[in-house]
Amino acid sequence: MRWCKMLQKNKTELREGKPSRQEYGTVQKHPIVVVLDNLNSAFNIGVIFRLAEALLLEKVYLCGDCPLPDSRKFQTTAKRSEKWIAWEHKSDTKDTVMELKNEGYKIVSAELSHNSIPYTEAIYEYPTAFIFGNEKKGVSEDILELSDTVVHLPIYGMANSLNVSSCASVMLYDAIVALRS
Ligand SMILES: C[S@@+](CC[C@H](N)C(=O)[O-])C[C@H]1O[C@@H](n2cnc3c(N)ncnc32)[C@H](O)[C@@H]1O
Repeated sequence: MRWCKMLQKNKTELREGKPSRQEYGTVQKHPIVVVLDNLNSAFNIGVIFRLAEALLLEKVYLCGDCPLPDSRKFQTTAKRSEKWIAWEHKSDTKDTVMELKNEGYKIVSAELSHNSIPYTEAIYEYPTAFIFGNEKKGVSEDILELSDTVVHLPIYGMANSLNVSSCASVMLYDAIVALRS
């Protein structure tokens, strides 16, 4: 419909203020990496790649038994964001978290745990690695033990948890808003 076209930004307008393709590699990224602990769903992983790229994060680590960005399911949600966001597959989540700790990253796990705090109370220090857990098992116990902070999104209804990519969207946007303010 015509009125819709006039109100929505066109592709040229959407690109305004963004780095060019040539500039993208040298643009300063937000000091946040995402670690996906044995996620099973290529759809969820694709959503998180698109999110991480839109938020100009440093990198996504796919740890353990995760679908890689070569599947059609991944492409449905990632929309080719893997071309831009740095990513790496690592065989073991714990080794990856230890390496990030040694590089000075604070480890923040997203999980409903006995010691988790609401995300609105978290004060992040940077650089930060956000860990998101498997769709059924959540973040592994040994990773929770290694974490500097465990944060949760409060649930007011009957659900036990949220979809991992919905959770990542809220937590990462909140962290970026705080970082940029
Ligand atoms: C579907 S949940 C995992 C299942 C959950 N541990 C269970 O036993 O039902 C998948 C991942 O999403 C994130 N997540 C989902 N809802 C969350 C919430 N309310 N607070 C924090 N993390 C959440 C966590 O990283 C979690 O490991």
